Amino acid sequence: MDKIPVIIDADPGVDDALALKIAFGSPALDIRLVCSVAGNVNINLTTANALYLTKKYGGSIPVARGSASPLSRKATDASSVHGAGGIGNYTIPEHDYVLDSEDGVECIYRALKKAEKPATLITLGPVTNIASLFSRHPDAVNLIGRIYAMIASVDGTGNITEYAEFNAYCDPEALDTVIRSGAEIVFAPMHLGRDAKLSQKDILERGKGSEFGSMLGEIFEGYRDEAAGEGFVAMYDANVMEAILRPELYEFVRCTAEVDTGEYPGRTFLRPDGNGKFFYLEIKDTAALDEAMLSDLFPERI
Ligand code: RIB
Ligand code: CA
Repeated sequence: MDKIPVIIDADPGVDDALALKIAFGSPALDIRLVCSVAGNVNINLTTANALYLTKKYGGSIPVARGSASPLSRKATDASSVHGAGGIGNYTIPEHDYVLDSEDGVECIYRALKKAEKPATLITLGPVTNIASLFSRHPDAVNLIGRIYAMIASVDGTGNITEYAEFNAYCDPEALDTVIRSGAEIVFAPMHLGRDAKLSQKDILERGKGSEFGSMLGEIFEGYRDEAAGEGFVAMYDANVMEAILRPELYEFVRCTAEVDTGEYPGRTFLRPDGNGKFFYLEIKDTAALDEAMLSDLFPERI
């Protein structure tokens, strides 16, 4: 099977951690780089989380530190959801993993240049790194096959404010740059994270006896997403991975995309349009997707 060269940009983050574990466990993905970005928590914490999770569960995949703050706004965070350290109450143990680069944007560019075919770019946080990439290297857009992004909402509603999804809200200028870049984007919009939510009990049950499963117990202790409800995890970021690995579980709706950088920063509209340049995902079968996520989280358990 032809492996897909992918680059992952993330702000771990509890649902990022789950999405990363799905990616690391898939034989279909050839992960060339994991790059952190400030988002759910600050860049030091998202980088530390990305480094540990990648080296422990992904093997020798390079890890780079990305942007510490949005292009032109003050950084915000979602530590009230993901915990002070970004992965619930889990404390990363002492380890000797070493970051491969402090300049994530350059690393993304080098990884794209090195790929033998256009790579798939996966974004799970604010798209500050990608906007910086396009500003520094305008040719980069031609090196990307598709961007799969967990960002935005279809209808101008939100989770961090009543009108903005968190990743779009953190850096709307960056999202506007990426929308205007000409890259083909597949959006995994906000409502999918609420539709595709998993019960923490089911996840812990499936992961019983595995090292990642034992980590999750402490991760969930410090995780609270009101939108998902007590005892559930909103699987926002996992939808991106499943859309790549199991596209048959989704409808790809061709659309236009816009983001507000003014009065309602981060408010987005993804409007169905047969001539649109983008797609947004709709889940075809939520029960099948939930089962797929559970089995893809713990391939070692099959
Ligand atoms: O709005 C949900 C998104 O914001 C997810 O990617 C979550 O991890 C946070 O980054
Ligand atoms: Ca995220």
